[in-house]
Amino acid sequence: MKRKILIAIDGPSGAGKSTLAKAIAEKLDIMHLDTGALFRALGYAALIKDFDTRDAKQAAELIKQVELGIEFENKNQKVLLNGKDVTPYLRTEDVSIAASNISVHPVVRDYILLQERQLAERESFVLDGRDIGTVVLPNADVKVFLIASPQVRARRRLLDLINAGNQNAEYEQVLQDIERRDHQDSNRQTAPTKMAADAVLIDSSNLTIEETVAQVLALVEQIE
Ligand code: DC
Repeated sequence: MKRKILIAIDGPSGAGKSTLAKAIAEKLDIMHLDTGALFRALGYAALIKDFDTRDAKQAAELIKQVELGIEFENKNQKVLLNGKDVTPYLRTEDVSIAASNISVHPVVRDYILLQERQLAERESFVLDGRDIGTVVLPNADVKVFLIASPQVRARRRLLDLINAGNQNAEYEQVLQDIERRDHQDSNRQTAPTKMAADAVLIDSSNLTIEETVAQVLALVEQIE
């Protein structure tokens, strides 16, 4: 790929955005930014510092106290909090909920928006998130809105949790968490999860990851 290209992959929790974005970035040999990890890092910071993620003032104070860093090692994304790599701690259910809570505050979204745009300015990227096609990069070359039924997403998430060693994870609980996060992420005032008018909707409920990747690559070919 010669010219710079920006690909936005948005959608609800657990639809497979990160897996898809990673595969697309590998195929095209470009960078991948998992923007959820940035909100997760702030959620994690709030948890360890005992800040209330629902309180806008505390969220603003948190941003003053922590410095969020993004690094890539062999294209693998690392998120740093005050210089410390916190990537391994970001995938727990507690952090998922804290990230969703803290992401409603405009002060948090503005802070992360700046970092996302700075990165996307530099080179070709696939970004996955909730508001990439609508707010962060409204001029992205390709926009995908990836969905899957809550039940399919809960089953995938449960498998991830079990594979990560969490043998006590329960389907009903995971489904409930997903539905609660969907509601919160789609109903917040600032930059809710929303399909851009010019995005392509892909329902991955009955697709393999290879099939989903092929659909997105076909979209990329159309613009070249
Ligand atoms: O994609 P994820 O599950 O890792 O994201 C965690 C939370 O971060 C999600 O519940 C909402 C928030 N988020 C957001 O508001 N905007 C984004 N672009 C990415 C994530």
